[in-house]
Amino acid sequence: MEAILLVGGKGTRLLPLTIDTPKPMVKLAGVRFIAHQIAYARSHGISRIVVATSYKTEQFLEYLGDGSAFGVEIVHAIEGEPLGTGGAIANAATYLISGERDPITVLNGDVLTAHDISAQIRQHVSMNCHATLHLVEVDDARAYGSVPTDDKGQIIGFVEKSENPPTNFINAGCYIFTKSVIDQIPRGRVVSVERETFPELLATGGKLWSFKSRDYWIDIGTPAALLKASQDLLTGVFISPAFTPQPKKIYIDPLAEVDSSALIEEGSAIGRAQVRSGARIEASIIGDEVVIEAGAQILHSIIGNRVKVGSGAIIERAIIGGDEIVLPPNSRHIGTALGIG
Ligand code: GTP
Repeated sequence: MEAILLVGGKGTRLLPLTIDTPKPMVKLAGVRFIAHQIAYARSHGISRIVVATSYKTEQFLEYLGDGSAFGVEIVHAIEGEPLGTGGAIANAATYLISGERDPITVLNGDVLTAHDISAQIRQHVSMNCHATLHLVEVDDARAYGSVPTDDKGQIIGFVEKSENPPTNFINAGCYIFTKSVIDQIPRGRVVSVERETFPELLATGGKLWSFKSRDYWIDIGTPAALLKASQDLLTGVFISPAFTPQPKKIYIDPLAEVDSSALIEEGSAIGRAQVRSGARIEASIIGDEVVIEAGAQILHSIIGNRVKVGSGAIIERAIIGGDEIVLPPNSRHIGTALGIG
């Protein structure tokens, strides 16, 4: 079975982390996010993935190659200019080898989900729909487009962000399309699947069905969500086929150098970093080639690659990234997004 993985976004909500690392290439529990997604897709029988890239394509080409290291076949569909979600799907579709009536899974490159994609595909095929969308219920849907359905689960509308959403069910970023439906999306121009393709399909009598689930789901698009997803992997709240939780509920890269007096607390993931004496790291993500000097404290924060943290500095609820960032000794960075941007 084939899938399209959308990874061409710039990830602006995760700036400055995404200046040098596209969102799907950020490591969660030591494993690049895209590897968690590929492992998940593979565990549901997907064997060929067209990766739709635009931003920092070369990193995906180098890391994924032909997919053999991940047990799937990977083809790269590269956009010269970002084509939006729908345009990216249309462009990627030219690389598919499935038949007209086959189901194609489309996955946003920023969702960690435990829902049963196999069941979603089965439902799509058995009901002979144009598209079947995974929907999840959130406590407050005002920040999202909401997707109302009828009693049977048929989608009856797509409502943009609003103060009074008609339902708390939102688009969870995993769609099953019948291949011939994808082929009708206009090629070579920017198209939004959420704002254009789906509403148009509905307006022209398309059969769009929901697949609702209450399984674990998170969109890692914001710093708080990225940290939560990382902690959920480390603590075993979310089980990824690409990561085995450790008893201490932390991850330390085998090439990291962590002083024995440094305190690494639950929910922290440390890349190839140097952590000096007396430093304390709590529920944080630390990138590669990072240096954390003696006595520094990093709490509920994300530190991108190559950042240097001076001795005694305190970083709390902050996201720091971009190249050559040096935080002076004893400086305080609370609730900041700091980097070259
Ligand atoms: P923000 O800038 O923080 O909103 O993040 P984003 O750029 O990832 O945008 P958004 O979260 O809306 O994108 C949803 C998914 O679609 C992500 O997996 C993106 O990588 C992907 N995506 C968005 N725009 C494009 C595009 O133009 N081309 C491709 N190939 N993928 C895209």
